[in-house]
Amino acid sequence: MKKLLTLLVTMFLITGVAYAASVVGSKHDMRFIVDDEDTDQVCVFCHTPHQTAEANAQYPLWNKKISTNTFGVYKSPTFDATDVAEIGGKGAGSQSVSALCMGCHDGSVAVNSLYRLPNDGSPGTPWFVPEIYSLNKTLSDDHPINFTYDTVLATKDGSLTPPVSSSRVDNSTPYLPLFEGKLQCASCHNVHNPEYRPFLRSSIDSSKLCLRCHVK
Ligand code: HEC
Ligand code: HEC
Ligand code: HEC
Ligand code: HEC
Repeated sequence: MKKLLTLLVTMFLITGVAYAASVVGSKHDMRFIVDDEDTDQVCVFCHTPHQTAEANAQYPLWNKKISTNTFGVYKSPTFDATDVAEIGGKGAGSQSVSALCMGCHDGSVAVNSLYRLPNDGSPGTPWFVPEIYSLNKTLSDDHPINFTYDTVLATKDGSLTPPVSSSRVDNSTPYLPLFEGKLQCASCHNVHNPEYRPFLRSSIDSSKLCLRCHVK
């Protein structure tokens, strides 16, 4: 009996955790903007299993129309990275992974403006990200992104964790990813996992997230 109870509790905990950690039901579950007769898909607002010609070569099977704005970059006298660049957004296939976020989070392109429409209904009437979730059209006042973060930079800066490879800062679970050696929005955020609000890869309590890269 006791064993059965432990098993049931364990099953509850496992399924409970698995549910809480999914994009389904999170703020990235865009079904909250569609009507009953519209699509019931969740991934379709960002990914499609088959791309249109327009979206070809867009990692990771990207289904969302992106912004054509120029965002600017962070500047500071103590910023040591030398290759910080515009996130892109013009030609399909040439964007950095951060341009994917800004396709919704600059507030200029409707969240449900998709390349390939879902087969099970419409993606709803145009709906834009609310002001409180918009970074607006500039990235010069945000934490720097789209620059190489490697051991050279860590040495130059003197108070950064040296990344273990060009795809991750550390080997913790979950690890902080780099994208072709670069720090991007998704190095700090996990769009699929609402566990640490707002979609962070670590808790922000005692600034744990910051301290995984900054030795301060
Ligand atoms: C709000 C947009 C959004 C939604 C919704 C979304 N994704 Fe993603 N997904 C992204 C972005 C952005 C990336 C690239 C950044 C990264 O890897 O974290 C990505 C990367 C991925 C990757 C490749 C990298 C990896 O983590 O393995 C897979 C696979 C993936 N998504 C699957 C899914 C599935 C399956 C769903 C639906 C259950 C889904 N995504 C829903 C935005 C989204
Ligand atoms: C398809 C559109 C879309 C894409 C792409 C997208 N988001 Fe979002 N995101 C939203 C919407 C819509 C909301 C706010 C939902 C609401 O109003 O409740 C949101 C909310 C958020 C929040 C706040 C969550 C909270 O709990 O307060 C964060 C953080 C976030 N997104 C980060 C990202 C990052 C980082 C990326 C790229 C890696 C990304 N998003 C890509 C549509 C998108
Ligand atoms: C260095 C880590 C880091 C990077 C890089 C980063 N964010 Fe964030 N982001 C955070 C943290 C931490 C918060 C929570 C801030 C708070 O609670 O005060 C946040 C909050 C947000 C929010 C919620 C609204 C707000 O303004 O607080 C959105 C949306 C968001 N980020 C999107 C993005 C997008 C899009 C990018 C890339 C252009 C990005 N973030 C890059 C760490 C980061
Ligand atoms: C994924 C790793 C990572 C995370 C997480 C991270 N940072 Fe950074 N941050 C960097 C890197 C790399 C730089 C560039 C340092 C340089 O070149 O001077 C940077 C730059 C900065 C700068 C600008 C430094 C300057 O010289 O102008 C500040 C301030 C900063 N981060 C604060 C934070 C805070 C606060 C957090 C947590 C909310 C945070 N960072 C989370 C990696 C990270």
